[in-house]
Amino acid sequence: MKRRNFINAAALAGLGLTFTSFELLPERKKIRGTFSSNKNKVSIYTNAPVKPTRIFHITDTHLSIDDERGVKYQEFSKRMAGAYKSNSHFQTEVEYSTKENFEQTLELAKEQAIDFLALTGDIFSFPSEAAVEWVLQKLNDTGIPFAYVAGNHDWHYEGMKGSSQKLRETWTEKHLKPMYQQNSPLYAAYDFNGIRFVCIDNSTFEIQSEQLDFFKSQVKSGSPLILLMHIPLFMPGRTMGYGCANPKWGEKTDKNFEVERREKWRKGGHTKVTFEFYDEVFTAPNLLTILAGHTHRPAIDFKNGIPQIVSGHNATAYFTDLIINSLAN
Ligand SMILES: [Fe+2]
Repeated sequence: MKRRNFINAAALAGLGLTFTSFELLPERKKIRGTFSSNKNKVSIYTNAPVKPTRIFHITDTHLSIDDERGVKYQEFSKRMAGAYKSNSHFQTEVEYSTKENFEQTLELAKEQAIDFLALTGDIFSFPSEAAVEWVLQKLNDTGIPFAYVAGNHDWHYEGMKGSSQKLRETWTEKHLKPMYQQNSPLYAAYDFNGIRFVCIDNSTFEIQSEQLDFFKSQVKSGSPLILLMHIPLFMPGRTMGYGCANPKWGEKTDKNFEVERREKWRKGGHTKVTFEFYDEVFTAPNLLTILAGHTHRPAIDFKNGIPQIVSGHNATAYFTDLIINSLAN
C-alpha cells in the first residue's frame, strides 16, 4: 500500500470510518478526479499520486492462427477459424488480416513508448497453442508489461462437451496458461506506476464467490484500481452484450447457444454473487475505470461516477488510448 493511502486509511480508521466512506471526503481527497474522451482517446485524472501512465486497451482481435497441433480440434474450431478473415482498419479503412492489425497496434505501442497493455479477451477466436505462442512472442518483443483476461471465445472449442465453467478451466490451463504470467486465470492483480490493474474473468458472464472475495480485498487495499473484464457490466438501455449482472440474462434470452454450440445460459438468470459483485464494483471508491470488450463497439457509460469503457474490436486495429495522470503531479 502506498504511504499516502496508508495515511488515509489510518486517518479514516481513527475517525471510525471505513474505506467505503471515501465519498464523504473533500473533493481533492477522492481518488476519482476528472474524465475526458475524444474518439479512441481517454484521459483520467486522479487525486491519487500515480505516475503518468499511458495504456493501450486492446480487446477482441479474434486471431485464428493455427498449426498441425490444432488439426485434431478442427471440428471444434472450424467456424471461428473462418471468422474475421479480413477487416477494414478503423482509421484508414484498408483491409488487413487480424494478425496484421494486432501487429500494427503493438508496433504503434512500441513506437509511442506506451507503458502498459490491457488485454480484455477474445484476443483469440479459439484456444490454439500456435496463436498463444505467436501473441506472447509479439507481446514480449514490445518489452511493455501487460495484463490479460480471457473472453468467451479464447477458451471455447465449439461443440466440445462440458459446461462453460469446465471448458474455461480446462483450456485456460492447457493452452492459454502462459498468457497469465504465473497468475490465476480467474483473478489477478498487477501493480504498475501506483495503479493496480485487477483482472476478473467474467467470460461465462458470471462471477464466482472467490472472484467476489478477491475484488473486495482489492477495494479494501485503497489503491487506485482499473478493472479488466471481457463482458461489460449491465447498463440499462444497452444490449444483452452488457450481460454480466444483467437482470434479463439467462436461458430465455440466450440467442446464440446453437450457433456457438455451447450450453445455454443459466436457467433462472444470474446468481446473487454476480449481483453482489456488480454492487461492489459500482460503489468502489477507489475504482478509476472498468475496461471491457465483447460487443465489438466502442462505448462509454457511467454509473455512480464510475466509467465503463468498452473498446471496439482490435480485429480492425482499434484500441483505446488511455492516459492516467495525477492531479497531484
Ligand atoms: Fe469478441
